[in-house]
Amino acid sequence: MSEQTPNRLLDHNYDGIQEYDNPMPRWWVWIFWATIIFSEVYFIYYHLGPGPTIHDDYAAEMPAGDAQLAANLPPVLDEAGLQAIFNDPARVESGKAVFTGKCAACHAPDGGGMVGLGPNFTDTFWKNGDGSLSAIQKVVMKGVTGTAMQAWDTQLKPEELQDVVAYVKSLQGTTAANPKEPEGKDVSLATADAAAPADSAATQGN
Ligand code: HEC
Repeated sequence: MSEQTPNRLLDHNYDGIQEYDNPMPRWWVWIFWATIIFSEVYFIYYHLGPGPTIHDDYAAEMPAGDAQLAANLPPVLDEAGLQAIFNDPARVESGKAVFTGKCAACHAPDGGGMVGLGPNFTDTFWKNGDGSLSAIQKVVMKGVTGTAMQAWDTQLKPEELQDVVAYVKSLQGTTAANPKEPEGKDVSLATADAAAPADSAATQGN
């Protein structure tokens, strides 16, 4: 290529535009060939040969990711575990701070609920679950799909989550300044409900 006469004009002429017949710089030509060779090797190894696909990479990395996520998620406590936190005034108090910061916007600062937003926590009515600490924990962790209530398990630290659950429970029976109308089921009747079928069966038996 280098033997060619530099700046030799080719004999064609396009509307007055002419061109030289100079070779591409050698470094450019080398890179050009290198990319072609690279692409051949790449194609054969990754598309035809044993090279891992992005799906393989994904499958290989997911277990570690899931494990890391699970390690960071708050543990699910049982009723007794939550009850212990509920009985500790210091933890309920720090739950209040979490509530004020993260929950009050929808559930009102005193837990009385907000029209069009979060339910009232001061009454005995629950939309999700039976109002037990573990039922509250479940809603707070996982949220309620299709509503403004999001999952907080990835947003709060484990203690914050447990503390706010205890605090929500502690609101029951308090007096809200502007309580939202009851929503869901009255859990204070749950015991009566449970007893009712037995009673009626007995009545029918008679
Ligand atoms: C963006 C508004 C919003 C925020 C912020 C919010 N919530 Fe909610 N929350 C709701 C709504 C709406 C519902 C009702 C869901 C439904 O219709 O079942 C709800 C429901 C709940 C319930 C179940 C109530 C029931 O009657 O079943 C609990 C418990 C709860 N929220 C706790 C919390 C806690 C604790 C926080 C803060 C960490 C919080 N929420 C933050 C909107 C919110």
